Amino acid sequence: MKAVGTQRTPLIAGNWKMYMGGRAGHELARGVAERAKGVGGVDVVVAPPLTVLAAIAHELEGSRVQVSAQNLYPKDEGAFTGEVSAPMLLEAGCKWVIIGHSERRQYFGETDASVAEKVAAAQKAGLRPIVCVGELLPEREAGKTLEVVYRQVDAFSRILGDQPGFGVIAYEPVWAIGTGKVAGPEQAQEVHAAIRQRLTGQSAELASATRVLYGGSVKPDNAAGLLACQDVDGALVGGASLKVADFAAIIEAAV
Ligand code: PGA
Repeated sequence: MKAVGTQRTPLIAGNWKMYMGGRAGHELARGVAERAKGVGGVDVVVAPPLTVLAAIAHELEGSRVQVSAQNLYPKDEGAFTGEVSAPMLLEAGCKWVIIGHSERRQYFGETDASVAEKVAAAQKAGLRPIVCVGELLPEREAGKTLEVVYRQVDAFSRILGDQPGFGVIAYEPVWAIGTGKVAGPEQAQEVHAAIRQRLTGQSAELASATRVLYGGSVKPDNAAGLLACQDVDGALVGGASLKVADFAAIIEAAV
């Protein structure tokens, strides 16, 4: 049970990654909207791949499920073949965008600097960023978890500080993503509390308004324990967001 006075509405976001790009995506979105209908007190977001993003956003209009992109390009428009901007995502019906996911940092060369640039572009356009941070296994083993996470958070926290509560941070220990290895509630709480403490360096308002989600092998059977932690304000869910029943169980565990 969270302490009285915690005002942050939990947020459960499903990161579909490069799955569910066609009819299956539509079915999944419809299923999630149906199941989320009766559950109050939690914000629900799905992040489909680009091929279905606009259509799903349109289909979910009026439901309590909002749509997120998985990435953006930080210019509004221009000769940038293959890229999509924040204003375009908004126009497509997106309200959110995941930025700096570890897979993007690992496979697509994203850096703290490019993440900051994307966060600024999203926020300027009115698209709510879900910014991912998290340490690699060797970094955790070397006792460098907080050093890494602080460096990543410091790169964009000033931007979030312009609009406290508009953006969200997702702590995703990289060794827990897609591996079935989940950080225990104490491990998660320790880092979440440290992130919130770090945000007080910007402002107390930013620290108390910013939702910090946990991500990395969140499943129906471990969600409740993680979500009960004082500073865990929701979850960014990969694998388990691809099944309506599993994602619905995680949404229900948040309230
Ligand atoms: P996972 O992915 O739940 O499959 O570990 C989480 C994420 O990458 O956001």
